[in-house]
Amino acid sequence: MKIKAINGFKDILPDEVHRWQRIEACARDIFQRFGLREIRLPILEKTELFARSIGETTDIVEKEMYTFPDKGITMRPEATASLLRAFIEHSLHLQRPVQRLFTIGPMFRHERPQKGRLRQFHQIDAEIIGAQEPQVDAELMAMGQMLLTELGLTASLEINSLGCPDCRPDFREKLVRYLEEKEEGLCEDCRRRRTTNPLRVLDCKKATCRALVQNAPSILDSLCAPCREHFQAVQKNLDLLGVTYKLNRFMVRGLDYYTRTTFEFIASGLGAQSAVGAGGRYDGLIHQLGGPGLPGIGFAMGMERLVLLMESTDSEQQALDREIDIFAAALGQEAMEFATPLIHALRKLSVRAAMDYSGRSLKAQMKQAGRLNAAYTLIIGEQELAEKKAILRNMDTQEQTSFSLEGDTKELAGILAKTCMETARSES
Ligand code: HAM
Repeated sequence: MKIKAINGFKDILPDEVHRWQRIEACARDIFQRFGLREIRLPILEKTELFARSIGETTDIVEKEMYTFPDKGITMRPEATASLLRAFIEHSLHLQRPVQRLFTIGPMFRHERPQKGRLRQFHQIDAEIIGAQEPQVDAELMAMGQMLLTELGLTASLEINSLGCPDCRPDFREKLVRYLEEKEEGLCEDCRRRRTTNPLRVLDCKKATCRALVQNAPSILDSLCAPCREHFQAVQKNLDLLGVTYKLNRFMVRGLDYYTRTTFEFIASGLGAQSAVGAGGRYDGLIHQLGGPGLPGIGFAMGMERLVLLMESTDSEQQALDREIDIFAAALGQEAMEFATPLIHALRKLSVRAAMDYSGRSLKAQMKQAGRLNAAYTLIIGEQELAEKKAILRNMDTQEQTSFSLEGDTKELAGILAKTCMETARSES
């Protein structure tokens, strides 16, 4: 019986990988412009780290973590907790007062797989630690928006404020009272959440719960003065940066560590899993994890969802990607022995070169060159060797020219490399 990949765990095949590389390159480029530096983190962490940061009563910690119970370790379900663990462990705040960091990699959550939702998925995670100014919130959201725009994608930015430990308990109480009256109409999960994590009821996806919370008290009416001012300043700075957004008072996020600003980038065309990225401020979290009392804010983009969006916008664009600059179609043993060192010399000169060793027909070899979308094919048979003249075929124009084989391998490779480079330059 064939062994298949585990449900929710997906291979990223060579034909898809260019999109992943493009996303990563684009993120690295943009993050650099905003002064973020990369940090690489382990996949396994102590389970307690996630329980203490994401929250004991969240779905992630309650039912979605891949945990090795006998070892007390868990495969990270997100990057923020790990990044802060590393930040605290290495006292990174002593190096510079504000740390701007990013990390890219796989995360693991035991959710029900569907379009845009996997059990192993990948995040691009950005965090700014040590700054509490609302300008930073806006800057970070603008950075996320820039990443989407430069990838050619559109998503709308939704923002909310979840207040702070001073004002949230009041809101929570108001909400609990409201939900008590409506208990009858709540789904089973929300009845439980009403006592364990009442704010989560606000973003339940079930239609009945959604209808019920339409008239629930708004957290934005319960913010204390400093939180209200912060949130107003965030909006003003988004306006200054020309970032459009809309308020969503029902957004509470699935992780407990947030304070004040939260946000999500919502894309249409992704079905139910429409959040392509999300994040927020977590001002008390570093202290709660045993670190200094520093504020922080960050977001993570889901790479699978970015790829899905890219596929829906540029499905054909990459089909003609050039994989190879030159393909040597050698016919017969002698020609093969001539071409082998030539291909090697071309590769040393940074040319993407390939040949076939199986002695297939010219037709089959031309087909192979076509599949690789080679710019040129160099055709060498017995006659060409004898006459010291090969055929160089431009695969795009189908024009064939004679290519002199006088000279040693290095010289011939040099001439071919120049031709390939010029073609590549004119194409870019
Ligand atoms: P999150 O909302 O849990 O936040 O995840 C962020 C993004 O990761 C989501 O918007 C989505 O695009 C992607 N994502 C989450 N779960 C899955 C899944 N099962 N399959 C595919 N994609 C998924 C966080 O993880 C926070 N750590 C974000 C953050 C950083 N907050 C502050 N700093």
